[in-house]
Amino acid sequence: MSKGLFISFEGIDGAGKTTQINMLKAYLEDLGYTVTVTREPGGSELCNKIRNILLDKDNTALCSMAELLLYYADRAQHINEVIAPRIANGECVICDRYYDSSYAYQLAGRKIDESVLNQLNDLVVKDAHPDVTFLLDLTLDVSLQRVSGRGEADRLELEGLSFKQRVREGFLAQANKHPERICVVDASQSPDGIFSDILSHLKKRGIKA
Ligand code: TYD
Repeated sequence: MSKGLFISFEGIDGAGKTTQINMLKAYLEDLGYTVTVTREPGGSELCNKIRNILLDKDNTALCSMAELLLYYADRAQHINEVIAPRIANGECVICDRYYDSSYAYQLAGRKIDESVLNQLNDLVVKDAHPDVTFLLDLTLDVSLQRVSGRGEADRLELEGLSFKQRVREGFLAQANKHPERICVVDASQSPDGIFSDILSHLKKRGIKA
């Protein structure tokens, strides 16, 4: 997409996406950008209705294909309602999770067919690709330590360790496939350490930050 700046953040639970997103938003606003922070699933009122179905831990009967299609229904609505209009207007959008999460959770995690996912992604995303994606990478051990003691787990968080390991590997595989877009950041560092890596990646990619 042209005009604005589109940044997505990805990673497994406990990677610290929210802290980094808030730091980057404040930093870019200081530079004069108009910044919208949004998320998937659930980036608008309508998208939140889809999010509720996806994360409800009582929806144990939800099959993998229905899950995939609901994430893409959320994405189609989100692009149309929130992302595309702001980028066209020259603004900055920071998205907490985007389609790399589908490659990690639905492809690597649920083992959905790759060609189905690629077709769906092309159909829904069209040219709405992030300019840059930060993958906050963490080992499963550190992730589990960081999330223990958080509130009640949702449907995805209740998945087993092998699923979570596949998800982490799925993210790293995406980063290997798209090194021009995805920056892998060591999320075991302090918040300031992670943020300084993020800023240097932005500068290296020629993004005015
Ligand atoms: P959320 O509470 O937003 O997670 P987090 O705080 O970890 O970002 O829940 C979103 C969940 O949905 C999360 O477990 C990842 C999952 N997800 C997918 O499985 N596929 C997707 O395409 C997206 C965007 C998210």
